Amino acid sequence: MKQMIIEGNNTLTGSILIGGAKNSAVALIPASILASGKSKIFKVPNISDRDALIEILEILNCKVLIEEDLLTIDTSNLKNTVIDEKHSKKLRASYYFMGALLGKEKYVEMYIPGGCNIGARPIDMHIDGFKALGAEVITEGNKYILKAEKLKGTDIYLRFQSVGATINLMFASVLAEGKTVIHNAAKEAEIENIADYLISMGADIKGAGTDEITINGVSSLHEGTITVIPDRIEAGTYIILGALVGKNLCIENVIPKHIEALTSKLIDMGSDIIINKNNVIISKVDNLKPTNIKTLVYPGFPTDIGQPMSVLLTQARGTSLFEETIWENRMGHVPSLNKMGANITVKGMTSMTIGPSSLHGTEVVATDLRGGAALVLAGLTATGTTIINDVEHILRGYENIEEKLTKVGAKIKIKEI
Ligand code: EPU
Repeated sequence: MKQMIIEGNNTLTGSILIGGAKNSAVALIPASILASGKSKIFKVPNISDRDALIEILEILNCKVLIEEDLLTIDTSNLKNTVIDEKHSKKLRASYYFMGALLGKEKYVEMYIPGGCNIGARPIDMHIDGFKALGAEVITEGNKYILKAEKLKGTDIYLRFQSVGATINLMFASVLAEGKTVIHNAAKEAEIENIADYLISMGADIKGAGTDEITINGVSSLHEGTITVIPDRIEAGTYIILGALVGKNLCIENVIPKHIEALTSKLIDMGSDIIINKNNVIISKVDNLKPTNIKTLVYPGFPTDIGQPMSVLLTQARGTSLFEETIWENRMGHVPSLNKMGANITVKGMTSMTIGPSSLHGTEVVATDLRGGAALVLAGLTATGTTIINDVEHILRGYENIEEKLTKVGAKIKIKEI
């Protein structure tokens, strides 16, 4: 088990370089299965979810070469074998092998995916979409078997703009016969990045990034190349950190359009923020105004930034209301924040924060990835020592966090216990 120890309340200055987006990379890596040959993915973040997906590729007899942030994935000797429960349970994104293997091999055997405990996380829309394309889906306990003689393009209507279902159904339909239209598709920035990778392999996809994606099936895909877009959630987390304890903290490699929902909130709250073409410079101010936030699908306020943002609300002067609309269990970090001195009351998927509170260090537990990131921000803001247990959750999605934060003046150490 890993533990993080933070000596808080230091002013952070300098620059933090944002890596490739986790939620793009975790789909791009499995997508490589659809290509024949050696595909290249640049700017892959160094996170444990990357390593878990590489292990699955190796189970499938693919060769993976890691050269810093470049992954070369050779699928020439792909062997379609069962993905065991230990590996599929390690992360949510293992389910992208369903769409990719179904698309390429018309047969998949794997176990239910894992991931953060932030809600029930059903995959009914993925399964219904696979069925609509002509697949038969059999469940045996925790195992799924998906098979098809052939897949045939069709119209698929998603009842909710699910990121995972949109991506998985793109994977399953790029090699299907004829035209597939995904209606009410998710519009997250990552979807376009993933479609661009498939297009580099020869796929015919139009409309990615809008709520209607049209895919004309092709008979095969050749090797592809893509650069992962900057991680808007990592960027958002560190921008919030700048508002908490920064002095001209520069967050570099940012696409400002991808984080507008956050930056416009920060402007409303009275932050000292400068938004440039590729970076954001932010400093702490003493008179932050409270605000109300409701998480929404892209381009609304991202659910994944909600937990880090909850720390900033503890520093605003007055009452802020927060409403989560995507995941029913995204308040797991609140008891820890309250233990550190915050005044947050939770009722179902909403919370009320009365600020400002002076946070103090204590021992807390990371319950999930973004909740864990929120505790890091709280620890860096608090006086005294904060000890965060179960840091593995955080390392799933924030690359080199200890190095990045130490470089800007944070006193932070991760140790094995
Ligand atoms: N949903 C269903 N049925 C489905 C699929 C989704 O009911 O078949 C529901 C979910 O339960 C949830 C909502 O639809 O209430 C949204 O789910 P979505 O499918 O969009 O989420 P996801 O693909 O599982 C990705 C990110 C999440 C991020 C969400 C929303 C990855 C690996 N995960 O999850 O990221 O919160 O989109 O933007 O891309 C994180 O990074 O911390 C994280 C949890």
